[in-house]
Amino acid sequence: MKIKVTVKRGKEVKIYKVPFRLKMRVLDALLYIQENQEPDLAFRWNCGEGICGSCAAEVNGKAVLMCKEEVKENTKGITIEPLSVFPVIKDLVTDPSDVYKKLDKLKPYYTGAEQEKRFYKIFDKEIKETQEMRKCINCFICYDSCHVIRNHPDLKFTGPMNIVKAVAFDKHPKEKTGRAGLLEKEGLWNCNVTRCCTQNCPQKIKITENAIIWSKERSHDMKKGEE
Ligand code: F3S
Ligand code: FES
Repeated sequence: MKIKVTVKRGKEVKIYKVPFRLKMRVLDALLYIQENQEPDLAFRWNCGEGICGSCAAEVNGKAVLMCKEEVKENTKGITIEPLSVFPVIKDLVTDPSDVYKKLDKLKPYYTGAEQEKRFYKIFDKEIKETQEMRKCINCFICYDSCHVIRNHPDLKFTGPMNIVKAVAFDKHPKEKTGRAGLLEKEGLWNCNVTRCCTQNCPQKIKITENAIIWSKERSHDMKKGEE
């Protein structure tokens, strides 16, 4: 049995037939096409195991990791497109550098931790909280899924991934800088909590609750303190 695989390649849409095998992933279909039909088909991947975060694309309209997304036996066909919020470099390869430019504004490094020389006891709960944020694999699926990013590109909004990164620093018990003020300047409140980022995160990070709402509460407390 062969399945129909439609791939958006720049302005062209190309259709391929790929032999189906049980438990195959979308990435397997692309590798088959590259090996047997179209050697110049461009897409990113490294680990094939959902760890490196490089293979994200939109499959049937939803941002997923292609190495984890199973092709079902009864599928009518799959359509693969690049992440739609980024400029395309070639085929499924996109340029997410804007997200990193936005991240630069959030002090993405530890501040003050080294100066703190005294013995410090870190509790399990604190470790778990910061570790949840550090599970992020930079796949950009949350960013691509967010309707604020998709529909309001001119609105100032750093996006869910960068909020997770900032909160990973903020939740470290030895970190001295609170980034709620910086996040606020970078559009934190433009998130209206639709939760698509959380629903689609392959690492199951509770982005909305544990990063975004957490930062909003801190930003709110900060303002109250200023009153
Ligand atoms: Fe976007 Fe996630 Fe907020 S999808 S609107 S960043 S809750
Ligand atoms: Fe590494 Fe998919 S290839 S996450």
